[in-house]
Formats: sequence, C-alpha cells, structure tokens
Amino acid sequence: MQVLTTIESLQGLLKGWRSDNQTVSLVPTMGGLHEGHLSLVRMANNNSDKTLVSIYLNPTQFGKGEDFDSYPRTIDADLGALENCQADAVFVPETEQMYPDGWSFDYEVGDIGKILCGITRPHFFKGVAQAVYRLLEIVEPEIAVFGQKDYQQLFIIKKMLRDMSLGVQILSHSTVRESDGLAMSTRNNYLSSKERAIAPELFRILERAREGYLSSKTVESLRVDIHKSINQHFELEYAEIIDANNLKQITDNTTEIAILCAVSLGPTRLIDNIFFWR
Ligand code: PAJ
Repeated sequence: MQVLTTIESLQGLLKGWRSDNQTVSLVPTMGGLHEGHLSLVRMANNNSDKTLVSIYLNPTQFGKGEDFDSYPRTIDADLGALENCQADAVFVPETEQMYPDGWSFDYEVGDIGKILCGITRPHFFKGVAQAVYRLLEIVEPEIAVFGQKDYQQLFIIKKMLRDMSLGVQILSHSTVRESDGLAMSTRNNYLSSKERAIAPELFRILERAREGYLSSKTVESLRVDIHKSINQHFELEYAEIIDANNLKQITDNTTEIAILCAVSLGPTRLIDNIFFWR
C-alpha cells in the first residue's frame, strides 16, 4: 500500500493505474478510522480495480469552538487498518496541497445546507463540499464511496455532483453499528464509560419511532414522542421525520421516510438516522 502526501506523487501513481486501464474508487475520510470507514473501503475494493483512501482532517468544515483540535489523529493505526483492508493507496495531503493559494471554490450549497445539521453548523456543508470537490478534482475517480450515517452530507454531495455535472458514480454504505446499536463514529471516543452505556438508546428511539410510524401514528405525535424520549437521555439538537428523497416534509407522494437526529451527550455530539419504505 502506497502512502502519498503530494498531488504530484499521487498523480504519478494514478497515471500508472490509468495506463493499465484500472478503475479507481476514492474513499474520503478524516482519519480516526473505525469499522464504518473500513466497510466503505471493502465496498470500494469490490467495485473497482483500485481503492484510494484519503485522510484529511478538513479544517473548513469545523466552526469556532468545535472539536478540530481534539479530533482523534491516529494516522499509524489508520494506515495499519487500511493495509489489512487491502486499500491500494492512501492520500494524506497537507492543507497547502488541498487548498493552495489561488484555488477557489464557489459552489453554493443552498437551502439544503441550512436545515438539520446546518442549523447549528452553518459552515459545515460548504466545508464538506469544498473538501470533497477538491479531492474529486485531484483524483478523478470513477467511483466515490460515502456512508449513509451522514445522510444529509451524502444527499448534498450527490446534489453537488448533479449540479456541477460531474460524472463520478457515488456508492453509499449502510451505517455500521456496534453490537448494541450505537452507530460507529470517531467521536464515540469522546464518550465516558457512563455516556457510552447511554448512547445506544438513540438508535432504540429511532427504531421505536419507525415502528410507531408503520403502525400509523401521526408524524406530529411521533415527533413529540421522539423529542420527549431524546430529552430523557440526551440534549436534543434536532429530530425530524421527513421525505428521504428530498429532505422535505412528508407528502402524499412520499415513498421513503427518513428519521434524522442530532443530540449531545455531555460534550459529545452524536448523529444518527434510520430510513425505510412507507
Ligand atoms: P468521516 O467522518 O471521517 O467519514 C468518512 C466517511 O465514512 C463518510 O462517508 C461517513 O459517512 C462514513 N462513515 C462514518 N461512520 C460510518 C458508519 N458508522 N457507518 C458507515 N459509514 C460511516 O464524513 C467525513 O469524514 C468528511 O465530512 C468528509 C466526507 C471526508 C469530507 O471532509
């Protein structure tokens, strides 16, 4: 497995792959890798000849007072895990490579970036879009792989690619969970043992809400129930029951429902979602 830190060395490697007619999947990450990330790598391995993983802790998607400084940086363990997973190469750029002077990015995420996670993190999706766009520009992969755990992020990335007519195919992987249901996340490392014992309740609340929806409870009463249950264990940021295909209110035409939420548990922010056919 090759580890590259400059665009020049990366593009040399990519050129060799291309001249052998090898297809390339890109798996963008911020490091602090866990089994959720590694599942994306395996999905990439199964869908293209070569898998390139990027590890870049993107400062532009963190706001003031957020956890950029304390975010886990575990590069040695990450590289070991990626080697075991048979990734072909890892791109670990410095910020000068990602955002050189003179490089600009003017995609407007729009209203879809202002709802849900965008309410408390108004900078977030612009930063994500910038990092993802830049990586796609550098690598030009056939495929890019993302997780459904970050449902709104996935939705916005797909929209950006459509809006910009970029030809890359997006594959998405279902949320990988601990055996007790907690969605794997790099930020789970912040949880104390007491908080860790409480955290799986979030997924149970989502599952109960799905059952409630399917047994004909109204969206409004479910919303009240979810908020109440979340407030018993967590600090609610948002929890919404919406149309999975446009992140808007459910209408008669809605075929797939998503329940998306973000909460705090002590100092840790957790997000999770569940989606299902009506
Ligand atoms: P990061 O949080 O490192 O996540 C990288 C990828 O792993 C994302 O596509 C995310 O959805 C996926 N992922 C995380 N936890 C997962 C889980 N439990 N199950 C399945 N997939 C999971 O998301 C980012 O980084 C950044 O915003 C990035 C896209 C790299 C842009 O900077």
